[in-house]
Amino acid sequence: EKGDFDHFMLKEIYEQPAAIQNCLRGRLNVEDLNLDLRAVRENLDTFKNASRIIIVSCGTSWHAGLVAEYWIEAMAGIPVEVEYASEFRYRQPVIKPTDVVIAISQSGETADTLAAMELAKSKGAFIFSICNVVGSSISREAHAGMYTHAGPEIGVASTKAFTTQLICLYMLSLELARANNEMEDFTYWNNLSELAVLDKAIEQVLSLNDEVKELARDYTESTNFMYLGRGYNFPIALEGALKLKEISYIHAEGYPAAEMKHGPIALIDENMPCMVLANCGAGRDKIISNMQEIRARKGEVIAIAFEGDTEIAESASHVLYIPKTNEMLSTIVANTILQLLAYHISVLKGCDVDQPRNLAKSVTVE
Ligand code: M6R
Repeated sequence: EKGDFDHFMLKEIYEQPAAIQNCLRGRLNVEDLNLDLRAVRENLDTFKNASRIIIVSCGTSWHAGLVAEYWIEAMAGIPVEVEYASEFRYRQPVIKPTDVVIAISQSGETADTLAAMELAKSKGAFIFSICNVVGSSISREAHAGMYTHAGPEIGVASTKAFTTQLICLYMLSLELARANNEMEDFTYWNNLSELAVLDKAIEQVLSLNDEVKELARDYTESTNFMYLGRGYNFPIALEGALKLKEISYIHAEGYPAAEMKHGPIALIDENMPCMVLANCGAGRDKIISNMQEIRARKGEVIAIAFEGDTEIAESASHVLYIPKTNEMLSTIVANTILQLLAYHISVLKGCDVDQPRNLAKSVTVE
């Protein structure tokens, strides 16, 4: 039940620190700083010999796949492709027995994802699932897999399931990096020690709830929204936009920030608020110039930045500061803010947060 919360979505947003702990339990050994992912360990040769990894999924789970593409390629050096399951299953894809296919699904019942994995299986690929619902069709159809252990997710908008999908994919990326000798001990330990305290960072960011709620008041009349991010944050921009449109019915688009000048910048005016994910390292200067481009066209910029990065405030009308974590994990921290923003705008607009119109929790028909 909802307990002290008005909606399941808010409850599930707040459950994220606990969901992360549950996802890490028995997998991350904090004392020795190592991982034990049984399903990966038992199939390590298959993963190591994979010519490529293909990720198939839909909606928010597809966004998790996009983040994983960046992580796996950067850390483990294995080529990754991410496909909408609905496209993959019908487009006569080239699938080889040396391919590893990862199906990501909260419900484990999404028809297109199931069909995509069945197709890949029939071509001899190894199928690995990342599901939340234990015993679900997708988890049973896979050769091996991991559960996200987020607990039941009732709100139609996926929140804690997405977060734990990313935790599983981060752990998987690190394991594959180690297996391929692509990561030094020191980096591996650093990445794991950050993972061990990620729940605390999420706790901290949840304390911004009132600030986000206040901010949400300014956007209840908005009819459009742009979300921009670079690198690891590009898929988070897509996810933030999806969350806003599905529960508040505001048209929102997510874009890689640098793509703006290839078209979307034409949309920028005082009626196009832009959420910019500026919690980045290498691309930070570039994202600042993107923010300035928006401001020069009277666009309003809300930015997410790391604590202490006060320079960001010079190019934004509002900055939400998140605790510093490594860039990869900061995607999860920043996304929590986007969940809260979508939630509060939806509530203020009087929308049905947990059961938005026209949507079902699991899409079991194509
Ligand atoms: O259960 P699945 O993860 O397979 O579901 C995929 C999508 O239907 C789902 O993520 C959908 O996009 C959510 N409503 C997003 O919040």
